[in-house]
Amino acid sequence: MKDSNYLKERNAKSIWHPMAHPTDSLNNPPTIVTEAEGTSISDVDGHQVVDAVGGLWNVNLGYSCEPVKAAIANQLDRLPYYSIFRGTSNDCVIELGDMLQDFFAPDGLTRAFYTSGGSDSVETALRLSRQYHKIKGQEARTKYLSLKKGYHGTHFGGASVNGNANFRTAYEPLMPGCFHIPAPYTYRNPFNETDPERLAQLCLQALEDEIAFQGANTIAALIMEPILGAGGVIPPHESFMPGVRKICDQHGILLIADEVITAFGRTGSWTGSRHWGVKPDFMCTAKAITNGYFPFGAVMIADHVVEVFERDTEGKAAIGHGYTYSGHPVGAAAAIACVTETLRLNVKDNAAARGQQLFEGLQKLYDDFDVIGDVRGGHGLMCALELVSDRTTKKPIDKATPVKLQKAAYESGAMIRVSGPNVILSPPLVLTAEDVDTILAALRSGFQSL
Ligand SMILES: Cc1ncc(COP(=O)(O)O)c(C=O)c1O
Repeated sequence: MKDSNYLKERNAKSIWHPMAHPTDSLNNPPTIVTEAEGTSISDVDGHQVVDAVGGLWNVNLGYSCEPVKAAIANQLDRLPYYSIFRGTSNDCVIELGDMLQDFFAPDGLTRAFYTSGGSDSVETALRLSRQYHKIKGQEARTKYLSLKKGYHGTHFGGASVNGNANFRTAYEPLMPGCFHIPAPYTYRNPFNETDPERLAQLCLQALEDEIAFQGANTIAALIMEPILGAGGVIPPHESFMPGVRKICDQHGILLIADEVITAFGRTGSWTGSRHWGVKPDFMCTAKAITNGYFPFGAVMIADHVVEVFERDTEGKAAIGHGYTYSGHPVGAAAAIACVTETLRLNVKDNAAARGQQLFEGLQKLYDDFDVIGDVRGGHGLMCALELVSDRTTKKPIDKATPVKLQKAAYESGAMIRVSGPNVILSPPLVLTAEDVDTILAALRSGFQSL
């Protein structure tokens, strides 16, 4: 490894960071992470902290998951790559396909389409949902609905259904035919409604209104996260996703559950859809499927959709979509080990217990620090604090304060993520009670330093 002065000096002179202004990276050198173990990461100066970000919502089993590391190393020796485009396959993708079929059976999902990450999974589901209607002779069903505040990655399709201007404006015009409805976000919403159940009903009415306006027979699919993640951890009322499912069914619209962060236990249930008792038509997964150790994803497909594709005799179901790294054998080997370990450790239960501990701790911070406007969580290990400069008027916080908080929390023992006014916490699901205490203590001293 090059020495720390070289690394700090060179960082932003040779690379641009995702989700950062190039000049900001020059002026505010990032933390250079060089090692990790368990639930902790260490930087180039040897400072070790608990990783309350969990990599990027993906290192669910922590950084020392030996079975996944071994699977990757062994697979690299045996078969480092082969494509699964028409005519070839590999043993790992077949074994993984069977595992995923079992894992997602309660969600009614019976086929996997492999991808290289979350944005690819979203793109795949969007495209296959249009194709589904075309196979059925409903060519006009091409539009998409989604939630404001939703995050669906950064490919053009995903960015077009994305519900946050930060990921849209600079790249417009985006794909036509994408329409957004209000998110069930009790802290701020156009209805001025703070009751979660009533707000869920209002958002569902807005959805029905939009469908009537567009014409149901022009809409291919609605895409949503069961709990909105990157948009600031927004858990809807329990009636919301079942309500969306019902409306989609009434109008022949497919429901795509974007579970890139919620699949594999993060919500305290094995999937976010299952958390709400909903069976989607497509489910996008990625991230935790390989514990973040290898870029990989899978779109899971509902049985009735599978039937439409597999019964086609006219050639309309031929899939003209896929990636060089779809079904990468090393990724598939990593995923086999990862799903096995995820089930063996039953991480969903720890996510629920530690998530509750974290959520309660954050509520105590709310009592002590006025800069916290809203605390969100209560469903596994995904929580957020929304910072405000005035709690009464909910005036948004300035840009500098969250960054200052992040630095101070880091000095005090926890890596946290700030995104706009939100502090987002998405730690590994193998987090211990002591780790939660460390994160809360680090946040407390961060708030005290402001
Ligand atoms: C819900 C959701 N969908 C899609 C994505 C995009 O995934 P990726 O960054 O792997 O392309 C993310 C990433 O955070 C996500 O949270």
